[in-house]
Amino acid sequence: MTFLVEMRGIEKRFPGVHALKAVQFDLQPGEVHALMGENGAGKSTLMKIMSGIYPRDGGEMFVDGQPATPDGPRAAQDLGIGIIHQELSLMNDLTAAQNVLIGREPRRSFGRLDEPALNAKTAEIFASLNLAMDPRTQVGTQTIARQQLIEIAKALSYNPRVLIMDEPTAALNDAEINELFKVIAKLKADGVGIVYISHRMDEIKRIADRVTILRDGAYIDTVDAADTPLSKIIQLMVGREVTQNAPDIPDTTRNDVALEVQNLSHGKDVRNVSFSVRKGEILGFAGLMGAGRTEVARIIFGADPKDSGAIFVHGQQVDIRTPNAAVQAGIGYLSEDRKHFGLAVDMTVRANIAMAHLGEFTNRLGVLDEGAMNDTALAYIDQLGIRTPSDMQDVRLLSGGNQQKVVIAKWLLRDCDVLIFDEPTRGIDVGAKSEIYALLEDLAAQGCAIIVISSELPEVMRLSHRIAVMCEGRLTGILPGGAATTQEQIMELATQRDTASVGTEDVI
Ligand SMILES: Nc1ncnc2c1ncn2[C@@H]1O[C@H](COP(=O)(O)OP(=O)(O)OP(=O)(O)O)[C@@H](O)[C@H]1O
Ligand SMILES: [Mg+2]
Repeated sequence: MTFLVEMRGIEKRFPGVHALKAVQFDLQPGEVHALMGENGAGKSTLMKIMSGIYPRDGGEMFVDGQPATPDGPRAAQDLGIGIIHQELSLMNDLTAAQNVLIGREPRRSFGRLDEPALNAKTAEIFASLNLAMDPRTQVGTQTIARQQLIEIAKALSYNPRVLIMDEPTAALNDAEINELFKVIAKLKADGVGIVYISHRMDEIKRIADRVTILRDGAYIDTVDAADTPLSKIIQLMVGREVTQNAPDIPDTTRNDVALEVQNLSHGKDVRNVSFSVRKGEILGFAGLMGAGRTEVARIIFGADPKDSGAIFVHGQQVDIRTPNAAVQAGIGYLSEDRKHFGLAVDMTVRANIAMAHLGEFTNRLGVLDEGAMNDTALAYIDQLGIRTPSDMQDVRLLSGGNQQKVVIAKWLLRDCDVLIFDEPTRGIDVGAKSEIYALLEDLAAQGCAIIVISSELPEVMRLSHRIAVMCEGRLTGILPGGAATTQEQIMELATQRDTASVGTEDVI
C-alpha cells in the first residue's frame, strides 16, 4: 500500500537538543493519526519537517510513494500538505477574510482587490465549519478560541490532502470541539489524512484511528486507537505509570477569608457576582466558554474596569484599577492568553522566571544577584520539569507546553496571597498536569487562596474544595468539590439561563 506521507529515520538537532532521533511516521488516506508525547517530545518539530518549515538533518520522506523534501511551506502546500499551528499565526490588524486567503486574494482587473469575492469565499468556509462570524471582523478583536477557528478555516482553504492539526482544540469549548470533529469526519470521508496532536486524552479515543507515540525525541510505538487502553498510551508516553486521579484533596482551608467579592458587575459579562475564597482554599470556576469566568478574574486583577461591586483582601476593601495595584494587594493572575500577558518570548527562561520580581534579586546596593537568580530559575526548571537545554535558552525556542510552565513558574515565585489560574494546564501533558496539581495543592497548604478557572470538568472536580459555576455572567451556584458533586450537577448550573431577564437588559 502507498501512504499519503511516509517518514523514516527522521533526525533533527537544535543547539543542545537532539529533538528527533530516527523517528518514523506514516499516514494513510482517510485516517486520523494521533501523534502523542509529553511536552518537548518532538511532535511539533516532526510536523514542521513534514510541512516544510524546518529542514530535516537526516532520514527520508515520501509523498504518494515519491521522495519529497519540501523546502518551505509553499512547497508543502503544493504537495497537498497543510498545517494548523500550535501557535496562532494570524495578523491581528487584518480582517478574518484577509487572513484566511492571505496571498491568494481574489482580484479584479488591474489587480484591484475583489472584496466581495474575498468575503464570500471566506463566508463559505466559515459555513462549512458552522462558524458564525462576519468575514470582515478584525482578527485582533476576537477571542483566542475564535482566532483558532479562523486559523482552521485558513488551512482548509488550501483543500489539503494531508492536514496537520497541532493542538487545535486547546482553546476551544465543547460545542466548538464538536463542530471541529464534524469537519474532521467530513475530511476523512473525502480521503484526507489527518495528523492530530492533542494533550486531551479523551479526544484520542473519540477520533483517532492510530496513535504514534514519541518520547524524548525517540519513536516509541504505533498502536491501534480502538484496541489500546488510554492507560497504556499514557504509559508509553511517560515511560512510567501515572495515576491520573489523585486521592481526595487535603482540607487545608482555614476560616479566614482571603478574598471577598461582593456584587461585582460589568455590562452583560458579569452580573452581580459575589463569592469568597478562604486561606488555603482552592475555589474552582466551572462554566461554558463565555460564561464570564475570565471576565471576573480580569476585573479582580484590574485588567478590566467594573461598573459596580466591592473587592476585599483580608477584610480590607481594595480599589484595584490596574494589574500593578492588584499585585500590590497580593493578587496574581495567570492569564489564559499567555502569549500576550505572560511571556517575553525573546528573553531567556531565567529572565522570564526572574522578571516578575527583580527586586528580590537585587541587593542593598541595587546590584543584581545573578547567583540567586540563577539558583531560583534552576530550582523551578527542575520542579516543574521544564524541558530546556539551559536556563539561558530563549523562551521562544521551547515547546508550547514548556513555555506554559515558565509562566507558571513566574507566578509561583511571587508569593501572592491570592492566585488566579485561568486554564493553567492548557497544552500541558498528562505527567506535568499532575505535577502542576501538586504544586497548586502545595500553595494552598501554605495558606495561599487559589482560584482555578478550567474548561475541563474533571480538572475542576479533582482540584477544588468548592466549585463556583457561572452561566451568562451570573454565578448560578457553588457546589462542594471532590466526590460529593457530579458532572451533571455542574452542567445543570452551567446551563441555567436566566429566562426572566432575557430581553429586559436592552431596555435598562
Ligand atoms: N527552533 C528551535 N530551536 C531550538 N530548540 C527547539 C526549537 N524548536 C523546538 N526545539 C526543542 O526541541 C524539542 C522538541 O520540541 P517540540 O516543540 O517538537 O515539542 P512538542 O512535542 O511539540 O511539545 P509540546 O507538547 O509542549 O508542544 C524541545 O526540547 C524544544 O525545546
Ligand atoms: Mg508542540
